Amino acid sequence: MALSPEFIHSIEQVVGAAGVVRDPALMASYLTDWRNAYQGQAALVVRPATTEEVAAVVRLCHDARVAVVPQGGNTGLCGGSIPDASGTELVLSLTRMKRIRDIDLANETVTVEAGVILRQLQEAASEAGRLFPLSLGAEGSCTVGGNLATNAGGTAVLRYGNMRELTLGLEVVLPDGRIWNGLRGLRKDNTGYDLKHWFIGSEGTLGIITAAVLKLFPATHSKATAWVALPSPQAAVDLIGHVRGLCADRLTGFEMMSRQSVEFVLEHVAGCSDPLAEPHPWYALIELRDTVPDAPLAQLLETGLGHAFEKAWVLDAVIASNHAQAAALWALREGISEAQNHEGPSLKHDISVPVSQIPAFIEHTDRALQDQFPGVRIVSYGHMGDGNLHYNISKPLGHADAAFKSQEQAIMNVIYRMTSSYNGSISAEHGLGQAKPRAAAQFKDPLEMELMRAIKRTLDPLGLMNPGKVFAAGLE
Ligand code: FAD
Ligand code: MLT
Ligand code: ZN
Repeated sequence: MALSPEFIHSIEQVVGAAGVVRDPALMASYLTDWRNAYQGQAALVVRPATTEEVAAVVRLCHDARVAVVPQGGNTGLCGGSIPDASGTELVLSLTRMKRIRDIDLANETVTVEAGVILRQLQEAASEAGRLFPLSLGAEGSCTVGGNLATNAGGTAVLRYGNMRELTLGLEVVLPDGRIWNGLRGLRKDNTGYDLKHWFIGSEGTLGIITAAVLKLFPATHSKATAWVALPSPQAAVDLIGHVRGLCADRLTGFEMMSRQSVEFVLEHVAGCSDPLAEPHPWYALIELRDTVPDAPLAQLLETGLGHAFEKAWVLDAVIASNHAQAAALWALREGISEAQNHEGPSLKHDISVPVSQIPAFIEHTDRALQDQFPGVRIVSYGHMGDGNLHYNISKPLGHADAAFKSQEQAIMNVIYRMTSSYNGSISAEHGLGQAKPRAAAQFKDPLEMELMRAIKRTLDPLGLMNPGKVFAAGLE
């Protein structure tokens, strides 16, 4: 059903002409995702600039029974920010809400609006002599609101935790337009249920996050980065245990990549080259950091790697000797997402299993896939230190796109069944969006699903907040 001219006029009264996008050409970028894997239609894109404007828009939508799809930087990888095909939904973009409201150095917190780009937040923290540690490949365009709504992870979770662990308070516009001001920068508050955790990771299905109080950390002044060749995922498990024992909290990142993943980057991402003379089956990217300037981190890494060579966990290694070399090593890791896009259709996964189970999971799942779908290219990499693998699948070389697409569901089932048998999660960091609600209903504990539905119905009884996301349509 098209929106009435009166409704559109009321929205314009709230946000002004600059806050409404109706031109189809200008709307296009809000209606498809970063990979162009999901497309939708919307009746309107609305861009409020303040919490009060968000509240007024949501109230109008509530009263007119218009569904709302919140959107930040639109970098999500499972279609959560893309409206459905009906053309009746309203996309609510938070990108004009980009104020850093306050930095409280004594409390070690920053209060920030939902539309602030993650990199701008990192830079603001750095200018204040602090660190905001969340870090991920899309940090130049994803927003704090999207990071909160997906409980984003990334490459520093090992040391600092994911977005949930970095959050002390939230401001949220509820589905009926009321504003919940939970912007308390408290580290301790046991006055009943901790409501912010309902909204973190809820993917826009319970309300609109408009601002947050986030934790700051001491700035780090020393860094060492190593690129390490490994014979197997088991060697990575052994290595991470050893390095963690040696370096404790100085270990801030431990990423693992298969040769296939690195080959895609070498082929498709300009300026990347193999840092080692020979190809190897697996690699780890290890990062140590310290708050002390000139801390002897490279020596510490050398000590750790020396022991690992003796144990035959490591086949070869290079330690970056300057910032440019470290950035080049990270480019090999961060380039995988983009590189895989050049290899035709792919299936993205962000599963997690206990770190100790990663080698067995990879071995069994690789074997099952190659038996059932010969030739599929397994692009396995990820945040090894968190037990989080991007176990992505690209179509077999020379196969038609359509043939691969017809097998997608069956391939996903093999991977999710295997994840489940290892007591894992089918989504460790990207969320369910519109890609995985049915899989969640199949693989998540039915009681957990029932409790989630109860929360959804309590907060959003009309089902207007991001319908079809997290819960498949009709299963809310
Ligand atoms: P969007 O994509 O706009 O939205 C994501 C979800 O949040 C949607 O469901 C949307 O409705 C909801 N939402 C957005 N803003 C709000 C709000 N203010 N209130 C309520 N709901 C809202 N993710 C990781 O966790 N770790 C990684 O390492 C990682 N690496 C990536 C690398 C690349 C190259 C890319 C493209 C993506 C990567 N991602 C990663 C995924 C993505 O960047 C994150 O999910 C990010 O947190 C999304 O932020 P966004 O602002 O783009 O959100
Ligand atoms: C990453 O860690 O690079 C992303 O979360 C994974 C992806 O793009 O699939
Ligand atoms: Zn990731």
